[in-house]
Amino acid sequence: MQSPSPFRIAVLASGRGSNLQALIDARAAGRLPIELVGVFSDKAAAGALERARAAGIAGVAISPKDFASRDAFDEALFSEVERVQPDLIVCAGYMRLISDAAVRRFEGRMINIHPSLLPKFPGLQTHAQALASGEREHGASIHFVTPDLDAGPVIAQARVPLHTGDTPATLAARVLVREHPLLVAAVALIAAGRVRQRGDAIELDGVPLAAPLQLADDGETLR
Ligand code: GRF
Repeated sequence: MQSPSPFRIAVLASGRGSNLQALIDARAAGRLPIELVGVFSDKAAAGALERARAAGIAGVAISPKDFASRDAFDEALFSEVERVQPDLIVCAGYMRLISDAAVRRFEGRMINIHPSLLPKFPGLQTHAQALASGEREHGASIHFVTPDLDAGPVIAQARVPLHTGDTPATLAARVLVREHPLLVAAVALIAAGRVRQRGDAIELDGVPLAAPLQLADDGETLR
């Protein structure tokens, strides 16, 4: 019998690409049965493109400055993405708003990692916001992308405590360490066909989730 072709993932990233690296490393270690079919960036100097190159993954940079509008840029970018025929697009530190048309084109097939416990703190500077609000815990969320910013149904979260004396930088570092296994675990469930978006809800094994899955203390399992 022919083995099924691996689940194809395209990654969108604007920056250093440590979440991309987590996917690369998990795949290389045999812990994530996926194929990384392309890395796409709005920044030619993104560290993520360097990491893609080092791992032998095709990298594409497209500059928004070369386009008259967000829609025109997204049309070009997502047409490139479409060419690699992804089963899933992972936004991992992709720092641009995505046009409604592009979001709709990939509905149910695009996820984002966001550094807060959504619905708390959508948008930017989430760590500073968590500190300023006197939160006792903070974390990261993986959600399906919908037209409203950071508002799509949440698949899974990882939580961290706040410590006395935390700065946005110390908190960001504590969250980032948990982002990596969170992303790998969530992608594994989607690739296995166990998690899917159904309208505003997430289904796990065909059953709607009452609340987002949580990364367990073992740093690997989602429950
Ligand atoms: C992460 O904190 C992610 O949650 C946010 O942007 C950061 C990207 O980091 N969306 P990296 O580029 O993956 O290292």
